Amino acid sequence: MERGEAIEIVRRHISKENNLKHMIAVGAIMKRVAEALGEDAKSWEVVGILHDVDFEECDGISDHTLKARDILGGIVSPDMIEAIMAHNYENTGVMPDTPLKKALIASDAVSGLIVAAALVMPSRKLSEVKPEGLMKKFKSKEFARGCSRERISVCKEIGFGVDQFLGIALDGMRTAAAELGL
Ligand SMILES: [Fe+2]
Repeated sequence: MERGEAIEIVRRHISKENNLKHMIAVGAIMKRVAEALGEDAKSWEVVGILHDVDFEECDGISDHTLKARDILGGIVSPDMIEAIMAHNYENTGVMPDTPLKKALIASDAVSGLIVAAALVMPSRKLSEVKPEGLMKKFKSKEFARGCSRERISVCKEIGFGVDQFLGIALDGMRTAAAELGL
């Protein structure tokens, strides 16, 4: 599946622009992470873009990604659907046991930290965010409290240090800066 096609599918199910931007951000991070790992960047980006496709249609976290499975069944590969379900493993029981699944959990979480870091810059732009500054914000429990450091730290299970992962994720999001308005 092409990136544009994934965005089209998301647009049919997501009406809030911020939700779409979140998914584009996670896709951009996933692409960069795949490149760093020598994995399939195109399909990893598509997984990132599609990962919350049912967000506005599910009743809450308890059935999140179950509707995504129905929406995406037969359209993308089973391992892509499994990866999406594993980012809500607490409710789906699909455990994050592959690099793709782990990357999605870490990328989903880190996107929130990076958006928050951009929004406190005078320019409110990603170009002003520095990797060192991100690491400080990662360590500061007060900053973007809702953003799970534990989930970001899953990056260690796919071979990255947290500082390295923050840099890769920032790089990835910068490639989509115009679409993200950041
Ligand atoms: Fe997400």
